[in-house]
Amino acid sequence: MQKKWWHDKVAYQIYPKSFYDTNGDGIGDIRGIIQKLDYLAELGIDILWLSPIYLSPLADQGYDIADYYQIDPKFGTMEDMDELIEQAQKRGIKILMDLVVNHCSDEHEWFRKAMADPNGKYGKYFYLEDASKGLPCNWRSYFGGPCWEPLPGTDKLYLHVFHKKQPDLNWENPEVREEVYKNINWWLDKGLGGFRIDAIINIKKTLPFHDYPIDRPDGLSAIHNMLKEAQGVGTFLHEMKNRTFAQYDAFTVGEVFNAKPEELEEFIGENGHFSTMFDFSTTCFGGSDKGWYDRKPITPEDYKNCCFDAQEAIQDIGFYANIIENHDEPRGVSYYLANEEINDTSKKMLGAITLMMRGIPFIYQGQELGMENTRFSSIDEVDDISSLDEYQNALNAGLSEAEALKAVSMYSRDNARTPMQWSDAPCAGFTTGTPWLQVNPNYVSINAASQLHDRDSVFFWYKQLIALRKNPDYKETIVYGRMLPYLREQKNLMAFFRKSEQQTLLILANYQKEPQDVCLPADQFRILANNYPQLNLNGNVAQLQGYQAVVLELL
Ligand code: GLC
Ligand code: CA
Repeated sequence: MQKKWWHDKVAYQIYPKSFYDTNGDGIGDIRGIIQKLDYLAELGIDILWLSPIYLSPLADQGYDIADYYQIDPKFGTMEDMDELIEQAQKRGIKILMDLVVNHCSDEHEWFRKAMADPNGKYGKYFYLEDASKGLPCNWRSYFGGPCWEPLPGTDKLYLHVFHKKQPDLNWENPEVREEVYKNINWWLDKGLGGFRIDAIINIKKTLPFHDYPIDRPDGLSAIHNMLKEAQGVGTFLHEMKNRTFAQYDAFTVGEVFNAKPEELEEFIGENGHFSTMFDFSTTCFGGSDKGWYDRKPITPEDYKNCCFDAQEAIQDIGFYANIIENHDEPRGVSYYLANEEINDTSKKMLGAITLMMRGIPFIYQGQELGMENTRFSSIDEVDDISSLDEYQNALNAGLSEAEALKAVSMYSRDNARTPMQWSDAPCAGFTTGTPWLQVNPNYVSINAASQLHDRDSVFFWYKQLIALRKNPDYKETIVYGRMLPYLREQKNLMAFFRKSEQQTLLILANYQKEPQDVCLPADQFRILANNYPQLNLNGNVAQLQGYQAVVLELL
């Protein structure tokens, strides 16, 4: 496998709106990111992915872009952005922007021009159909309701697979593709390290538009029914890569759901469309066509199987980007651990698994502090559009308001979007004003200031494991070594080897509160990391404590 500059990196996702506010308007900003670069450098981060900061009405928190060449004034200026790239560079950190090109905002100039003249040049930038024949197809948008909306002032409908303020761009039109490539290269010329590529699988539609089997009482059909059938997204992705990323040796991470096993090589193999893509197998597990209220919770055994299956499928092909959470998911510690078992030890165990698996770890802001889901006492406290839709969907299915709120609270994207917890000062030290979204009240005990100097903190554990990934003595094995499950059948044990020609590491994670004995495959070993003060041994048997995680070098 040809080595690439990103293989040995650790990435960190910033959700700028909630990261750090420097001017007291309650909204995080670019200057706030600049101020916290030293914090990120201390943690050991090499790549920073920023969720969108382009000009946007923020209908979907910036994933609705009104101008791809402008920074939204809420976040700062282009000068701030240039300074961020430069300051990050000084610390050896590369910046990734979010590339959101399946759709733009209905406030983008292209869409305005399409409204003014639907039959002209810009009408062809979107999917417009005559309204007189009814809906062209029965696809349900990701955020609920049909994918079609009247184009104001015309006799047309336009397609939006996400929110109605996010009209889909027509990738079949070469002019649209040229605009996208021009924009990507413009940003790469500024010195970006690359892009995280949003919702990209949606750019290929099955045309002409037609219906799919109805899967809910609303008479509509989920988009993934269409995506399963869509052919040829690779042609677009190949072209995009060659016209842009490949020329800069840029790093790209795709947001790809439902990739088929036979497509992995094409997507992230040696000459794949992207450098890597997220492994969503644990976050998607238990999903239901009916909606969040019907999701099935994930057990430690499911978690293990998802991770191991994904790793086995990928390791001869490329690298996954490993996550336990992001801005679209609940907090990993609240989701993958039983409520009453969430503590620093169990949080560290999850951290050890993601940081020691093969792949490129992506840490989401606050994960390194063990930030948890927040609590909603009423649906009025929820901002996220998909949570509001899922709430309604649950009510429509006959759930009570309390039940619907419970389901939404568990999965709401706002769980991950509450402000970063910097200190125990008011509003978690995130802002001196009123935060745009309520701070999680647990900031008094969970915050960066208190963890930075505590060698037992979750932060310190992340820092220690990141340092281990970079330690020249172990790096080759942790980055490139094979990942092999160990005692896979042993319940609630997640154990795996990382093996290179010169070395074998063994990671043991006791994914339960009860102790558990594990037979060791070697007599001699060195402990490289341990979330307990010691490892109890009885001959060849390690007696793991509840949620104990250890990284061993077998000798
Ligand atoms: C991606 C983003 C999500 C956004 C959607 C539409 O899934 O991660 O936040 O709502 O795309 O752009
Ligand atoms: Ca601000």
